[in-house]
Amino acid sequence: MYNPFSLEGKTILVTGASSGIGKATAIECSKAGAKVYLTARNEERLARTLTEMENEGHRIIKADITSVEDIQNLVDSVEVLDGVALIAGINDKMIVKKIDEGFITNMMSTNLTGPALLMKSLLKAKKINKQASIVFMSSVSAFYPSVSNALYGASKAAVNQFAKVLALEVLPIRARVNCIQPAFVETEMIQKYGEDTLEEIRKNYPLGRFAKPEEIAQAVIYYFSEATQLITGTSLVIDGGYTLR
Ligand SMILES: NC(=O)c1ccc[n+]([C@@H]2O[C@H](COP(=O)([O-])OP(=O)(O)OC[C@H]3O[C@@H](n4cnc5c(N)ncnc54)[C@H](OP(=O)(O)O)[C@@H]3O)[C@@H](O)[C@H]2O)c1
Repeated sequence: MYNPFSLEGKTILVTGASSGIGKATAIECSKAGAKVYLTARNEERLARTLTEMENEGHRIIKADITSVEDIQNLVDSVEVLDGVALIAGINDKMIVKKIDEGFITNMMSTNLTGPALLMKSLLKAKKINKQASIVFMSSVSAFYPSVSNALYGASKAAVNQFAKVLALEVLPIRARVNCIQPAFVETEMIQKYGEDTLEEIRKNYPLGRFAKPEEIAQAVIYYFSEATQLITGTSLVIDGGYTLR
């Protein structure tokens, strides 16, 4: 059957595959025909993701993205990749008056330094195939400010610019680098707000709801697919119209 978004024959690495968007991405990529390497810190939850995946040959590699040793072990353990989805991330809230060095280091090491070092190591080890597609999970917070989100927004704005420069640097191997910028997605990350607050926030979403993790995963598949061979250095906002206002 004709499918311009098929990932048949592709090998893909998904970070943050133990939960939320990363979990949905691993599952959707398997349904689209890819062989997937799943990584995060929690092996038990990664194993649960694996049980929901289709087809054979997927592999779990436990790694903390803030650990240089874990990144090296991850890079050594994967074969040459056609796609990398850098989805692992944290979103801690703190008004600027209260932040300290530890807070900044934690946010930046997970959301920026880890993904940057992972990409550096994959490239150095020649584990990125010609015409590969790399997708960073950014956020609307990179350009749309909200109180307590200064460091998170800064980390994601940095990811956007990192991705653009990387897009230039991987042109010689005809690889592509793009970002996805969701607003609220129905994952554990937003559960901290509580249902009453979420209901209030939802009212500001013109299309009436938050994204489902699968909807973000399908955008990752779009960028991984042959349908987007000429798309690089871009960013796709998925926000139900939230930042229109
Ligand atoms: N949910 C939203 O509303 C939303 C909106 C915009 C952007 N995003 C972005 O989407 C990405 C995924 O978020 P989510 O909503 O799916 O959150 P989630 O359900 O909390 O999942 C976060 C994932 O990141 C992994 N992770 C966190 N710290 C890690 C570390 N040090 N090393 C390795 N893995 C680590 C976690 O795995 P382990 O705990 O097993 O390590 C987990 O798999 C994040 O980058 C987030 O900023 C989310």
